[in-house]
Amino acid sequence: MGIQGKSLIAPDDFTVEEIQTVISTAKEMMEVGPDAYRGLCADKILATLFYEPSTRTRLSFESAMLRMGGSVLGFGDANTSSVAKGESIADTVRVISHYADIAVMRHHKEGAPKLAAQYATIPVINGGDGGHQHPTQTLTDLLTVEICKGKLDEQVVAICGDLKFGRTVHSLIKTLTRLSIKKLILISPEELALPSYLRRELEQKGANMEEYTCLDEVIEVVDVLYMTRIQRERFFNEADYQRLKDTYILDARKLERAKQDMIIMHPLPRNNEIAYEVDDDPRAKYFEQAKCGVYARMALMSLQLGVL
Ligand code: NCD
Repeated sequence: MGIQGKSLIAPDDFTVEEIQTVISTAKEMMEVGPDAYRGLCADKILATLFYEPSTRTRLSFESAMLRMGGSVLGFGDANTSSVAKGESIADTVRVISHYADIAVMRHHKEGAPKLAAQYATIPVINGGDGGHQHPTQTLTDLLTVEICKGKLDEQVVAICGDLKFGRTVHSLIKTLTRLSIKKLILISPEELALPSYLRRELEQKGANMEEYTCLDEVIEVVDVLYMTRIQRERFFNEADYQRLKDTYILDARKLERAKQDMIIMHPLPRNNEIAYEVDDDPRAKYFEQAKCGVYARMALMSLQLGVL
């Protein structure tokens, strides 16, 4: 069937070849520059349905569509839509299907974008559902590694922080194990370790994986360090969040022992987990990563819409 017309709810919705097609298309778009794609989506409309706060995901989707000459409609705050009047997701997307050619949805409830895709007659993209999945962040992350480091199968990738609630982490790990990397290192407090369904999946696939609670212990062997925010909004009580929030703080001193060509990634927004002094270190790539987000989404949407 290919990517045209397909929804992207979880990374497994795309085959490995399809993921690679998105990444190579995005890379080419980045190298050529956005001007060459200005008319690509001239008659297309993107609907952004954001039931949960967002900066990068919503704006990078909008920027991607606008850069390809398309238009954007939608909401960034569900309280300004008919959701406030009790409208169901099924009804909203059935209507939106007549107003737009493609839609991206973010929702605090796990599974909401999946439900939307079942009722929509246009492709639906999951822009993050609760503590579950965030597949377009994964495309962004893979593009960043490809551009900054090259071959994925030569990398030791460490993911550090909130592995329990972090949806970017869940989508990234699921995908990395399908693409095969040299080694995956998971670093988290025990209470915020990877959910057991994902751990089982990794074990079944025989993934080369190690788990730690201390970043200092392993930083010197890492090629790609992916830092994440402790997900305050998913905690059941504030006291636990306060106790765990500053478990990992990457600063210049910690980086002294890291490889000179290691790259530091973060889906953003950051809290304290990366000190501001690190921003000047050439290894810091998180703003480059945010830039990659626009190209990853340009490539994804143009392939889904069949305009390339
Ligand atoms: C992430 C998210 O929303 O899951 N942000 C993003 O999309 N770049 C990460 C986070 O909120 O910690």
